[in-house]
Amino acid sequence: APPPVQTSGETTPHRDGEQYANVNWDELGFDAVPTDYMYVMKCSIEEGDFSHGKLIPYGNIELSPSAGVLNYGQGLFEGLKAYRREDGRIQLFRPEQNALRMKMGAERMCMLSPTVEQFVDAVKQTVIANNRFVPPPGKGALYLRPLLMGSGPLLGLAPAPEYTFLIFASPVGNYHKGRPALKLFVEDKLQRAMPGGTGGVKSITNYSPVYLAQTKAKAKGYSDVLFLDSAHGKYVEELAVCNIFIVKGNVVSTPAIQGTILPGVTRKSIIEIALGFGYQVEERLIPVEDLLEADEVFCTGTAVIVNSVGGVTYQDKRVEYKTGKETLSKKLYETLIGIQTGRVEDKM
Ligand code: COI
Repeated sequence: APPPVQTSGETTPHRDGEQYANVNWDELGFDAVPTDYMYVMKCSIEEGDFSHGKLIPYGNIELSPSAGVLNYGQGLFEGLKAYRREDGRIQLFRPEQNALRMKMGAERMCMLSPTVEQFVDAVKQTVIANNRFVPPPGKGALYLRPLLMGSGPLLGLAPAPEYTFLIFASPVGNYHKGRPALKLFVEDKLQRAMPGGTGGVKSITNYSPVYLAQTKAKAKGYSDVLFLDSAHGKYVEELAVCNIFIVKGNVVSTPAIQGTILPGVTRKSIIEIALGFGYQVEERLIPVEDLLEADEVFCTGTAVIVNSVGGVTYQDKRVEYKTGKETLSKKLYETLIGIQTGRVEDKM
């Protein structure tokens, strides 16, 4: 049976004698490692709200072939991490923000969604049930992947009659192994999001359309693709997997949230930390020229945390940026990871 669950507070107690799972903690990448339990909770249109959520052993799920998510892509996902602190307790980072973002996404995608309390409670239960998969301090995190999907059957194009909320977990290390400075390809033909579309929510439909650009760029040795806005093709938007920031002097800029940019939890946290360091932060339109003239560039996301960008290629121009120990991105990374792992007080 699943272990007892604590549902209040941001941290969970370490249970004495708890064994770590048989995982090579030094070799963690960003791969799906099966854990002990996943959390499942359903809601039909007739019921109107989610209840009867439960932990079940991790495994395959059953879906009708006519489920809304399979046929029409009605689905959302979230990503958040649980870290084991030096004192053995486990700490989550602002899970309410993921819950709120899922609610926002559900409105855009005409889906029913769990309340913030249900979401956060389910995340905590999933973490505690998979306690032995939370890496030792300094070795990574337990990545939680909440999914919301149209699981009810239908054939005509319409919102599904039933929704399933599911959380699975996987121990992870760095998204980019060794956290190298990234080499980005600025994609000026294929696009990720359009005004009025779903780029500003975490719809599953935003992700596989990036594969073509990403696969081509990776084949040429790039780490990832940086997309431009689809209306003008001249403003920087985001990478396939995360948000972007540029630094020029004392000014840190990032694309404003205006419908095509994902409101990243890490993005928001980094803005707050940079302001606290005394930087001026601008959320604005960023012409590609500003990217090419920046002193430093870095990207942020739950999976990548904060990763510096070593260079970008835009058409026939290649530009390199400052990387290494003396960068703002390094300082931001250290502070954020300090807060996330309980070494630095979270003043929020
Ligand atoms: C995350 O950073 O958690 C994400 O959801 C991005 C994903 C493509 C790995």
